[in-house]
Amino acid sequence: MAEKEIKTIGVLTSGGDAPGMNAAIRAVVRRGLSKGLNVKGIYKGYAGLLNEEIVDMTAKDVSDTIERGGTILYTARCAEFRTEDGQRQGAEVCRKHGIDGLVVIGGDGSFAGAQKLANLGVNTIGVPGTIDLDIACTEYTIGFDTAVNTAMDAIDKVRDTSTSHERCSIIEVMGRRAGYLALWCGIANGAEDILIPEKYDYDEQRLINNIIDSRKKGKKHHIIVNAEGIGHSEAMAKRIEAATGIETRATILGHMQRGGSPTCKDRVYASMMGAMAVDLLLEGKSCRVVGYRHGAFVDFDINEALAMQKSVDEYQWEVCNSLSHNYKKNN
Ligand code: ADP
Ligand code: F6P
Repeated sequence: MAEKEIKTIGVLTSGGDAPGMNAAIRAVVRRGLSKGLNVKGIYKGYAGLLNEEIVDMTAKDVSDTIERGGTILYTARCAEFRTEDGQRQGAEVCRKHGIDGLVVIGGDGSFAGAQKLANLGVNTIGVPGTIDLDIACTEYTIGFDTAVNTAMDAIDKVRDTSTSHERCSIIEVMGRRAGYLALWCGIANGAEDILIPEKYDYDEQRLINNIIDSRKKGKKHHIIVNAEGIGHSEAMAKRIEAATGIETRATILGHMQRGGSPTCKDRVYASMMGAMAVDLLLEGKSCRVVGYRHGAFVDFDINEALAMQKSVDEYQWEVCNSLSHNYKKNN
Protein backbone atom coordinates (compact mmCIF):
# COMPACT_ATOMS: atom_id res chain seq x y z
CA MET A 1 0.00 0.00 0.00
CA ALA A 2 1.16 3.54 -0.71
CA GLU A 3 2.22 5.19 2.54
CA LYS A 4 2.01 8.86 1.58
CA GLU A 5 -0.28 10.99 -0.52
CA ILE A 6 0.45 10.73 -4.23
CA LYS A 7 1.25 14.09 -5.86
CA THR A 8 3.40 13.19 -8.83
CA ILE A 9 3.21 10.12 -11.04
CA GLY A 10 5.39 8.84 -13.85
CA VAL A 11 4.57 6.72 -16.87
CA LEU A 12 6.82 4.63 -19.10
CA THR A 13 6.48 2.02 -21.85
CA SER A 14 8.82 -0.97 -21.81
CA GLY A 15 9.60 -4.08 -23.88
CA GLY A 16 8.12 -4.51 -27.38
CA ASP A 17 5.87 -1.64 -28.44
CA ALA A 18 2.19 -2.37 -29.09
CA PRO A 19 -0.55 -0.40 -30.87
CA GLY A 20 -2.69 1.25 -28.21
CA MET A 21 0.19 2.14 -25.90
CA ASN A 22 -0.32 5.80 -26.82
CA ALA A 23 -3.96 5.58 -25.78
CA ALA A 24 -2.82 4.22 -22.40
CA ILE A 25 -0.19 6.96 -21.98
CA ARG A 26 -2.77 9.58 -22.91
CA ALA A 27 -5.20 8.17 -20.35
CA VAL A 28 -2.56 8.15 -17.59
CA VAL A 29 -1.63 11.76 -18.37
CA ARG A 30 -5.14 13.15 -18.69
CA ARG A 31 -6.64 11.13 -15.83
CA GLY A 32 -3.73 12.14 -13.63
CA LEU A 33 -4.02 15.82 -14.51
CA SER A 34 -7.80 15.72 -14.03
CA LYS A 35 -7.21 14.45 -10.49
CA GLY A 36 -4.77 17.27 -9.72
CA LEU A 37 -1.58 15.23 -10.07
CA ASN A 38 1.67 16.19 -11.78
CA VAL A 39 2.49 13.69 -14.50
CA LYS A 40 5.97 12.92 -15.79
CA GLY A 41 6.74 10.96 -18.94
CA ILE A 42 9.80 8.73 -18.83
CA TYR A 43 11.37 8.03 -22.21
CA LYS A 44 12.73 4.64 -23.38
CA GLY A 45 11.46 2.43 -20.57
CA TYR A 46 13.78 1.52 -17.72
CA ALA A 47 16.79 2.69 -19.76
CA GLY A 48 15.34 6.22 -19.81
CA LEU A 49 14.58 6.00 -16.10
CA LEU A 50 18.21 5.20 -15.33
CA ASN A 51 19.36 8.00 -17.67
CA GLU A 52 16.80 10.41 -16.17
CA GLU A 53 15.13 11.08 -19.51
CA ILE A 54 12.11 12.48 -17.72
CA VAL A 55 9.79 15.30 -18.83
CA ASP A 56 6.67 17.00 -17.45
CA MET A 57 3.58 16.03 -19.42
CA THR A 58 0.72 18.39 -20.24
CA ALA A 59 -2.71 17.52 -21.65
CA LYS A 60 -1.54 18.92 -25.00
CA ASP A 61 1.49 16.63 -25.10
CA VAL A 62 -0.84 13.70 -25.69
CA SER A 63 -3.09 15.41 -28.24
CA ASP A 64 -3.32 13.62 -31.58
CA THR A 65 -1.78 10.45 -30.20
CA ILE A 66 -4.71 8.07 -29.60
CA GLU A 67 -4.80 7.09 -33.27
CA ARG A 68 -1.05 6.58 -33.61
CA GLY A 69 0.80 3.27 -33.48
CA GLY A 70 4.06 2.86 -31.58
CA THR A 71 4.71 4.74 -28.36
CA ILE A 72 5.38 8.48 -28.10
CA LEU A 73 7.53 7.75 -25.03
CA TYR A 74 9.65 5.28 -27.02
CA THR A 75 10.54 1.94 -25.49
CA ALA A 76 13.59 -0.17 -24.76
CA ARG A 77 14.90 -3.37 -23.31
CA CYS A 78 17.34 -2.57 -20.54
CA ALA A 79 19.74 -5.25 -19.31
CA GLU A 80 21.04 -3.03 -16.49
CA PHE A 81 17.62 -2.88 -14.89
CA ARG A 82 17.71 -6.66 -14.38
CA THR A 83 20.49 -6.13 -11.83
CA GLU A 84 19.93 -5.12 -8.20
CA ASP A 85 22.19 -2.09 -8.70
CA GLY A 86 20.11 -0.97 -11.67
CA GLN A 87 16.87 -1.39 -9.73
CA ARG A 88 18.22 0.56 -6.72
CA GLN A 89 19.34 3.33 -9.07
CA GLY A 90 15.87 3.34 -10.68
CA ALA A 91 14.19 3.75 -7.28
CA GLU A 92 16.64 6.55 -6.43
CA VAL A 93 15.83 8.38 -9.68
CA CYS A 94 12.10 8.15 -8.88
CA ARG A 95 12.72 9.69 -5.45
CA LYS A 96 14.99 12.39 -6.90
CA HIS A 97 12.26 13.43 -9.38
CA GLY A 98 9.52 13.26 -6.75
CA ILE A 99 7.76 10.39 -8.53
CA ASP A 100 5.44 8.88 -5.89
CA GLY A 101 3.74 6.47 -8.25
CA LEU A 102 4.82 4.83 -11.51
CA VAL A 103 2.68 3.32 -14.25
CA VAL A 104 4.58 0.71 -16.26
CA ILE A 105 3.03 -0.26 -19.60
CA GLY A 106 4.55 -3.49 -20.94
CA GLY A 107 4.62 -7.25 -20.65
CA ASP A 108 5.61 -9.76 -17.98
CA GLY A 109 9.28 -8.72 -18.08
CA SER A 110 8.36 -5.09 -17.51
CA PHE A 111 6.08 -6.15 -14.64
CA ALA A 112 9.00 -8.02 -13.05
CA GLY A 113 10.87 -4.70 -13.13
CA ALA A 114 7.86 -2.90 -11.59
CA GLN A 115 7.72 -5.55 -8.85
CA LYS A 116 11.38 -4.87 -7.97
CA LEU A 117 10.72 -1.11 -7.80
CA ALA A 118 7.68 -1.71 -5.58
CA ASN A 119 9.89 -3.77 -3.24
CA LEU A 120 12.21 -0.75 -3.08
CA GLY A 121 9.36 1.53 -2.00
CA VAL A 122 8.18 3.00 -5.32
CA ASN A 123 4.43 2.62 -5.78
CA THR A 124 3.98 0.86 -9.11
CA ILE A 125 1.05 -0.27 -11.24
CA GLY A 126 1.49 -2.43 -14.36
CA VAL A 127 -0.68 -2.09 -17.46
CA PRO A 128 -0.51 -5.06 -19.86
CA GLY A 129 0.88 -3.97 -23.22
CA THR A 130 1.99 -6.66 -25.64
CA ILE A 131 0.79 -8.00 -28.97
CA ASP A 132 1.51 -11.54 -27.71
CA LEU A 133 -1.52 -11.88 -25.36
CA ASP A 134 0.78 -13.94 -23.13
CA ILE A 135 0.04 -12.37 -19.74
CA ALA A 136 -1.72 -14.93 -17.57
CA CYS A 137 -3.82 -12.67 -15.35
CA THR A 138 -5.66 -10.98 -18.21
CA GLU A 139 -7.78 -12.02 -21.18
CA TYR A 140 -6.81 -8.82 -23.00
CA THR A 141 -3.45 -7.13 -23.61
CA ILE A 142 -3.00 -3.79 -25.34
CA GLY A 143 -2.05 -4.29 -28.99
CA PHE A 144 -3.22 -7.84 -29.55
CA ASP A 145 -6.44 -6.82 -31.27
CA THR A 146 -4.67 -4.53 -33.73
CA ALA A 147 -1.85 -7.00 -34.37
CA VAL A 148 -4.18 -9.92 -34.98
CA ASN A 149 -6.23 -7.86 -37.43
CA THR A 150 -3.06 -6.69 -39.23
CA ALA A 151 -1.82 -10.27 -39.50
CA MET A 152 -5.24 -11.48 -40.62
CA ASP A 153 -5.32 -8.93 -43.47
CA ALA A 154 -1.80 -9.89 -44.52
CA ILE A 155 -2.64 -13.61 -44.51
CA ASP A 156 -5.74 -12.97 -46.65
CA LYS A 157 -3.44 -11.34 -49.20
CA VAL A 158 -0.96 -14.20 -49.16
CA ARG A 159 -3.87 -16.57 -49.62
CA ASP A 160 -4.93 -14.83 -52.85
CA THR A 161 -1.58 -15.38 -54.51
CA SER A 162 -1.20 -18.83 -52.97
CA THR A 163 -4.50 -19.93 -54.55
CA SER A 164 -3.59 -18.43 -57.95
CA HIS A 165 -0.33 -20.40 -58.01
CA GLU A 166 -1.85 -23.48 -56.32
CA ARG A 167 0.86 -23.32 -53.69
CA CYS A 168 1.29 -24.23 -50.08
CA SER A 169 2.06 -21.16 -47.93
CA ILE A 170 3.61 -21.08 -44.51
CA ILE A 171 2.97 -17.77 -42.80
CA GLU A 172 4.88 -17.07 -39.63
CA VAL A 173 3.34 -14.73 -37.09
CA MET A 174 4.86 -13.22 -33.94
CA GLY A 175 4.06 -14.19 -30.37
CA ARG A 176 7.43 -14.95 -28.84
CA ARG A 177 6.91 -18.27 -26.99
CA ALA A 178 3.10 -18.06 -27.13
CA GLY A 179 0.77 -19.21 -29.91
CA TYR A 180 -2.24 -16.91 -29.37
CA LEU A 181 -1.64 -14.70 -32.42
CA ALA A 182 -1.17 -17.80 -34.59
CA LEU A 183 -4.24 -19.51 -33.14
CA TRP A 184 -6.50 -16.52 -33.68
CA CYS A 185 -5.19 -15.91 -37.21
CA GLY A 186 -5.52 -19.61 -37.97
CA ILE A 187 -9.20 -19.49 -37.08
CA ALA A 188 -9.88 -16.09 -38.68
CA ASN A 189 -8.08 -16.96 -41.91
CA GLY A 190 -9.45 -20.49 -42.15
CA ALA A 191 -5.95 -21.99 -42.22
CA GLU A 192 -5.57 -25.63 -43.12
CA ASP A 193 -2.97 -26.11 -40.39
CA ILE A 194 -2.03 -24.09 -37.31
CA LEU A 195 1.29 -24.74 -35.61
CA ILE A 196 1.61 -23.36 -32.08
CA PRO A 197 4.26 -24.17 -29.47
CA GLU A 198 1.61 -25.17 -26.92
CA LYS A 199 0.24 -27.93 -29.20
CA TYR A 200 2.57 -28.83 -32.07
CA ASP A 201 3.95 -32.36 -31.82
CA TYR A 202 6.61 -31.79 -34.51
CA ASP A 203 5.16 -34.68 -36.54
CA GLU A 204 6.01 -33.17 -39.93
CA GLN A 205 5.01 -36.32 -41.78
CA ARG A 206 1.44 -35.79 -40.55
CA LEU A 207 1.57 -32.24 -41.83
CA ILE A 208 2.85 -33.46 -45.20
CA ASN A 209 0.08 -36.10 -45.38
CA ASN A 210 -2.46 -33.37 -44.63
CA ILE A 211 -1.16 -31.24 -47.51
CA ILE A 212 -1.26 -34.20 -49.93
CA ASP A 213 -4.80 -35.19 -48.78
CA SER A 214 -6.02 -31.65 -49.11
CA ARG A 215 -4.65 -31.37 -52.67
CA LYS A 216 -6.36 -34.67 -53.58
CA LYS A 217 -9.64 -33.20 -52.33
CA GLY A 218 -9.20 -30.29 -54.75
CA LYS A 219 -7.93 -27.57 -52.41
CA LYS A 220 -6.03 -25.00 -54.46
CA HIS A 221 -3.97 -23.69 -51.60
CA HIS A 222 -2.79 -24.92 -48.24
CA ILE A 223 -2.32 -22.22 -45.64
CA ILE A 224 -0.18 -23.08 -42.64
CA VAL A 225 -0.06 -20.45 -39.91
CA ASN A 226 3.15 -21.03 -37.99
CA ALA A 227 3.92 -19.37 -34.66
CA GLU A 228 7.25 -17.62 -34.11
CA GLY A 229 7.77 -19.94 -31.13
CA ILE A 230 8.12 -22.83 -33.60
CA GLY A 231 9.79 -20.75 -36.33
CA HIS A 232 12.07 -22.16 -39.04
CA SER A 233 9.40 -21.49 -41.69
CA GLU A 234 11.88 -21.22 -44.60
CA ALA A 235 13.47 -24.60 -43.85
CA MET A 236 10.05 -26.15 -43.28
CA ALA A 237 8.87 -24.83 -46.68
CA LYS A 238 11.85 -26.44 -48.43
CA ARG A 239 11.22 -29.80 -46.74
CA ILE A 240 7.49 -29.69 -47.52
CA GLU A 241 8.10 -28.82 -51.18
CA ALA A 242 10.60 -31.68 -51.48
CA ALA A 243 8.23 -34.17 -49.85
CA THR A 244 4.99 -33.15 -51.59
CA GLY A 245 6.13 -31.79 -54.95
CA ILE A 246 3.86 -28.80 -54.25
CA GLU A 247 5.50 -25.38 -54.57
CA THR A 248 5.78 -24.00 -51.05
CA ARG A 249 6.65 -20.47 -49.91
CA ALA A 250 7.34 -19.06 -46.48
CA THR A 251 6.29 -15.54 -45.46
CA ILE A 252 7.47 -14.13 -42.16
CA LEU A 253 5.21 -11.23 -41.23
CA GLY A 254 7.63 -9.82 -38.64
CA HIS A 255 7.51 -6.35 -37.16
CA MET A 256 4.73 -5.03 -39.40
CA GLN A 257 2.43 -6.78 -36.91
CA ARG A 258 3.54 -4.35 -34.20
CA GLY A 259 2.73 -1.18 -36.15
CA GLY A 260 -0.30 0.69 -37.41
CA SER A 261 -3.18 2.66 -36.03
CA PRO A 262 -4.82 0.84 -33.10
CA THR A 263 -8.27 -0.67 -33.47
CA CYS A 264 -11.23 0.78 -31.59
CA LYS A 265 -10.95 -1.99 -29.01
CA ASP A 266 -7.28 -1.27 -28.35
CA ARG A 267 -7.94 2.46 -28.02
CA VAL A 268 -10.86 2.02 -25.64
CA TYR A 269 -9.47 -0.78 -23.45
CA ALA A 270 -6.05 0.91 -23.25
CA SER A 271 -7.75 4.15 -22.21
CA MET A 272 -9.68 2.35 -19.48
CA MET A 273 -6.62 0.53 -18.21
CA GLY A 274 -4.44 3.66 -18.17
CA ALA A 275 -7.08 5.58 -16.22
CA MET A 276 -7.58 2.69 -13.81
CA ALA A 277 -3.85 2.54 -13.10
CA VAL A 278 -3.99 6.17 -11.95
CA ASP A 279 -7.09 5.51 -9.83
CA LEU A 280 -5.35 2.57 -8.14
CA LEU A 281 -2.39 4.77 -7.22
CA LEU A 282 -4.80 7.36 -5.83
CA GLU A 283 -6.49 4.64 -3.77
CA GLY A 284 -3.11 4.02 -2.16
CA LYS A 285 -2.39 0.79 -4.01
CA SER A 286 1.00 -0.40 -5.22
CA CYS A 287 2.56 -3.52 -6.75
CA ARG A 288 -0.66 -4.18 -8.69
CA VAL A 289 -1.33 -4.97 -12.32
CA VAL A 290 -4.47 -4.08 -14.25
CA GLY A 291 -6.23 -6.88 -16.12
CA TYR A 292 -9.44 -7.68 -17.96
CA ARG A 293 -11.37 -10.75 -16.89
CA HIS A 294 -14.94 -11.99 -17.36
CA GLY A 295 -16.04 -8.67 -18.86
CA ALA A 296 -14.55 -6.36 -16.24
CA PHE A 297 -11.36 -4.41 -15.57
CA VAL A 298 -9.76 -5.78 -12.43
CA ASP A 299 -6.43 -5.63 -10.62
CA PHE A 300 -4.09 -8.24 -9.17
CA ASP A 301 -1.04 -8.28 -6.99
CA ILE A 302 1.98 -8.29 -9.34
CA ASN A 303 3.58 -11.21 -7.48
CA GLU A 304 0.43 -13.29 -7.94
CA ALA A 305 0.00 -12.14 -11.55
CA LEU A 306 3.55 -13.20 -12.42
CA ALA A 307 3.04 -16.60 -10.79
CA MET A 308 -0.11 -17.36 -12.83
CA GLN A 309 0.06 -19.76 -15.78
CA LYS A 310 -1.78 -19.33 -19.06
CA SER A 311 -2.70 -22.08 -21.47
CA VAL A 312 -4.55 -22.38 -24.75
CA ASP A 313 -8.26 -22.98 -24.24
CA GLU A 314 -8.87 -26.67 -25.02
CA TYR A 315 -12.35 -26.09 -26.41
CA GLN A 316 -11.12 -23.31 -28.72
CA TRP A 317 -8.33 -25.59 -29.96
CA GLU A 318 -10.68 -28.52 -30.51
CA VAL A 319 -13.24 -26.38 -32.37
CA CYS A 320 -10.51 -24.78 -34.46
CA ASN A 321 -9.26 -28.21 -35.57
CA SER A 322 -12.75 -29.42 -36.41
CA LEU A 323 -13.20 -26.46 -38.78
CA SER A 324 -10.23 -27.46 -40.90
CA HIS A 325 -11.02 -28.84 -44.39
CA ASN A 326 -9.01 -31.98 -43.64
CA TYR A 327 -10.51 -32.78 -40.27
CA LYS A 328 -11.30 -36.43 -39.75
CA LYS A 329 -13.44 -37.51 -36.84
CA ASN A 330 -11.26 -38.54 -33.89
CA ASN A 331 -8.05 -37.65 -35.76
P1 ADP B 1 8.05 -7.51 -21.90
O1 ADP B 1 7.84 -6.48 -20.86
O2 ADP B 1 7.31 -7.23 -23.16
O3 ADP B 1 7.87 -8.92 -21.38
P2 ADP B 1 10.94 -7.89 -21.77
O4 ADP B 1 10.88 -9.27 -21.23
O5 ADP B 1 11.94 -7.61 -22.86
O6 ADP B 1 9.58 -7.39 -22.37
O7 ADP B 1 11.21 -6.93 -20.53
C1 ADP B 1 11.28 -5.53 -20.71
C2 ADP B 1 12.30 -4.96 -19.73
O8 ADP B 1 11.85 -5.17 -18.39
C3 ADP B 1 13.69 -5.61 -19.77
O9 ADP B 1 14.51 -5.11 -20.79
C4 ADP B 1 14.22 -5.23 -18.40
O10 ADP B 1 14.69 -3.90 -18.39
C5 ADP B 1 12.97 -5.34 -17.54
N1 ADP B 1 12.93 -6.65 -16.91
C6 ADP B 1 12.62 -7.84 -17.46
N2 ADP B 1 12.72 -8.85 -16.57
C7 ADP B 1 13.12 -8.28 -15.42
C8 ADP B 1 13.41 -8.79 -14.11
N3 ADP B 1 13.30 -10.09 -13.83
N4 ADP B 1 13.80 -7.91 -13.16
C9 ADP B 1 13.90 -6.60 -13.44
N5 ADP B 1 13.64 -6.05 -14.64
C10 ADP B 1 13.26 -6.87 -15.63
O1 F6P C 1 6.72 -9.20 -27.38
C1 F6P C 1 6.41 -8.63 -28.62
C2 F6P C 1 7.30 -9.20 -29.70
O2 F6P C 1 6.94 -8.59 -30.92
C3 F6P C 1 7.28 -10.72 -29.83
O3 F6P C 1 6.15 -11.19 -30.53
C4 F6P C 1 8.58 -10.97 -30.54
O4 F6P C 1 9.08 -12.25 -30.21
C5 F6P C 1 9.48 -9.90 -29.99
O5 F6P C 1 8.66 -8.89 -29.45
C6 F6P C 1 10.41 -9.30 -31.02
O6 F6P C 1 11.25 -8.41 -30.40
P1 F6P C 1 12.24 -7.42 -31.17
O7 F6P C 1 11.45 -6.21 -31.54
O8 F6P C 1 13.29 -7.13 -30.18
O9 F6P C 1 12.71 -8.12 -32.40
